[in-house]
Amino acid sequence: MKMWSGRFSKELDAGINDFNSSISFDHVMFREDIAGSIAHATMLGAQGIIPAADAESIVAGLNGILQDLESGSLSFDWQAEDIHMFIEQVLTERIGDAGKRLHTARSRNDQVALDLRLYLKKQTRELYDLLHRLTELLAGKASEHLDTVMPGYTHMQVAQPVTFGHHLMAYAQMFMRDLGRLSDCYQRMDVMPLGSCALAGTTYPLDRTMTAKLLGFSAISQNSLDGVSDRDFCVELASALSLIMTHLSRFSEEIILWCSSEFSFIELDDAFATGSSIMPQKKNPDICELIRGKTGRVNGDLVHLLTMLKGLPLAYNKDLQEDKEAIFDSVETVKLCLSAFLPMLETMTVKKDRMRAAASKGFINATDCADYLVRKGIPFREAYQITGWLVKLCIERNCTLETLPLQSYQMLCPAFAADLYRAIDLTTCVEQRTVTGGPAPAAVASQIQELKSRLAAHDAATPWN
Ligand code: ARG
Repeated sequence: MKMWSGRFSKELDAGINDFNSSISFDHVMFREDIAGSIAHATMLGAQGIIPAADAESIVAGLNGILQDLESGSLSFDWQAEDIHMFIEQVLTERIGDAGKRLHTARSRNDQVALDLRLYLKKQTRELYDLLHRLTELLAGKASEHLDTVMPGYTHMQVAQPVTFGHHLMAYAQMFMRDLGRLSDCYQRMDVMPLGSCALAGTTYPLDRTMTAKLLGFSAISQNSLDGVSDRDFCVELASALSLIMTHLSRFSEEIILWCSSEFSFIELDDAFATGSSIMPQKKNPDICELIRGKTGRVNGDLVHLLTMLKGLPLAYNKDLQEDKEAIFDSVETVKLCLSAFLPMLETMTVKKDRMRAAASKGFINATDCADYLVRKGIPFREAYQITGWLVKLCIERNCTLETLPLQSYQMLCPAFAADLYRAIDLTTCVEQRTVTGGPAPAAVASQIQELKSRLAAHDAATPWN
């Protein structure tokens, strides 16, 4: 029999009970639901809203339920309407009348808003830790590859030489911003809605600040209608997660290319690649492909949340029950992807020779040749045009800028001298790009230092520290 059956003269249709129930997915919040109820009952007791003895037996009863759910000696009732109803029901069966006092000055509307915030705060901290590990791994790997020259691309055409360390640090910068977004949205999640009740607050003398303190919230919501209907924090988290996936997906796409025999810049460890059922030679980057694919799913979760909210009048509407599957799915998916990506990245082999060989093709040093002429006093536009002619000449003669004889250079421009060859050497090209943010080993080394200290400062300032 339903808790709310008083007003009804029939049992809920069995099919509709399943349709209406959320316990199949909200049971994951059982710890948060119990913690929220313990804090609420403690406050009710302290305020004299319920007898102190009842508050004590509620707390003891809830702790018992927590233990039994953790140990598996109590199982969820999949017919229950949701996790909130289930726990209250078990509590009342176990402790009798005192259990019936727990829901004083509370509604499931503020209860579910509370549970979700508590649950997502914890998930956000876990996501932050995973992403932090990835950022550190990238900084560590980058410092091993300060001198590993590789081609930099625009339009997927060889453009200018960079290093693998420089390339990895580009991703470290993206994940740094993602870390910032996670701790930023945590602050707005860290607001306690309990006390909003169904929508209009309550006549009981609640001490909301006490409940918030017991639960570790740094603020309490200021409008009861907003308290029960706000899901901005889910959208913010989902959007931060979509960006994390976007970054992982771009990185994955590159790794997929780099693993191909055409690039062959890296090789994945056998433990992090898969074979084919028919082609014996295949070694596939499935992890990367799955991450790229799952990005669509996480983006879908974000759109799901935004669309669910857009037409909702205040305050609570049952549509809001649809928030959980979307945000839980994106949290789980991102955690899974980060957990798979980390060891894959950690164990991959970098083929420095292949990277360098690829950087030696495609006239990657043409800009440096023009810059050489600029240093000899030729205006850049003119130097650019002369270098264009040189590239054309090399294509006709099937040679490279490095192998084109000096006389040919001098025929096009007398400013060329023998020191040209050093200026267009790949190593020189990279080493001279010392501008802040550039690929020169010294510049990348200081980028790594800067990122590491920013990361440390960031950790110290996270809202949960
Ligand atoms: N299971 C519901 C949810 O997830 C709990 C709130 C239900 N409130 C209500 N008045 N029916 O949103």
